[in-house]
Amino acid sequence: MTEVLQLDPECPQHKAIERAAAIIQTGGLVAFPTETVYGLGADAMNETAVRRIFEAKGRPPDNPLIVHIASRGMLDLVANDISEKAERLVKKFWPGPLTLVLPRNSQIAPSVSAGLRTVAVRMPKNEIALGLIRASATPIAAPSANASGRPSPTSASHVLDDLGGRIDMILDGGTTDIGIESTVLDVSSDAPAILRPGWITREMLSEVIGPVDRSASAEELRRSPGTLHRHYSPRARVVLIERGSLKRIEQLCREHLKQGSVGYIGHTPVDIDDESFHYIPLRERADDYGSSIYASLRELDQTSPRVIIVEGISEEGEGAAVMDRLRRAASEVIVND
Ligand code: TXA
Ligand code: MG
Repeated sequence: MTEVLQLDPECPQHKAIERAAAIIQTGGLVAFPTETVYGLGADAMNETAVRRIFEAKGRPPDNPLIVHIASRGMLDLVANDISEKAERLVKKFWPGPLTLVLPRNSQIAPSVSAGLRTVAVRMPKNEIALGLIRASATPIAAPSANASGRPSPTSASHVLDDLGGRIDMILDGGTTDIGIESTVLDVSSDAPAILRPGWITREMLSEVIGPVDRSASAEELRRSPGTLHRHYSPRARVVLIERGSLKRIEQLCREHLKQGSVGYIGHTPVDIDDESFHYIPLRERADDYGSSIYASLRELDQTSPRVIIVEGISEEGEGAAVMDRLRRAASEVIVND
């Protein structure tokens, strides 16, 4: 049985947090909101508990987890050799949607790092998450709380759909703000590199620490195995149209409609009146796409479409993070015009 507790996101009820913390302390699994997406948490120092995360999600064991902390002091339990650049980033962006990859402290449960010498760590900007970590008095390992391969959950009901019955508790703090997972930055060596783009952009990072590598090389991707796995996908096939005219999008929708029901997520309104056509309009802005894209993919999935067509947005600023996730969700990418 998975218990769901409703919490006030601004001022979470102590009693509920205490109960959730007791589960973490005894090796159980608790899903909780962060400012990005919901995480599935376990005590990061307890190997048995951490292994349960992999089981519940069906996560490949070579994909390491992010450790969540609530204070700068906790960082020393998790990581070693924190560089001056890393310290500057911590001061500037924590709490917030930035994950730092640092040399691992050997106290951390081995499975957290999936055999790597490094550990990913962040301080979430969410009162429920911070309250849970403090009350548990231990760093909490937490990947996104979806079944492996599915879109990350941005509400408690998404978590329940994927993991109901497989985890002990869900702390429901409503819909998450950003909706896209944190930026992952490797600062374990002298050349900082972004392993996963997110809301903290390369430009924002460069302002604080100087040059940052944009895209991960093949070698760096091997260092972040999660980026190699198929990700963020609904059950339906996703076709991403990176840049398309209204005419092209309509044509594509009509072609697929001949063979079954079609979902469409985009900022270009399409004039198709057909009960097999399901359209979720979004504004052409990274924040609109970010906060709604996973929920929209899940919603359209429920109509069992033959295909979900998604229109892309500009890659500028936070748009890069959105496009990264869309490309990973897609089994076909159309670059048009
Ligand atoms: O916003 C987020 O980051 C959310 C919330 C819950 O905090 N968490 C999240 O976790 O997205 P997950 O497990 O879905 O993604 C973690 C990513 C994966 O791509 C993984 O490969 C990478 O971080 N990662 C974890 N540890 C790493 C390490 N030691 N070195 C390189 N990459 C690492
Ligand atoms: Mg994930």
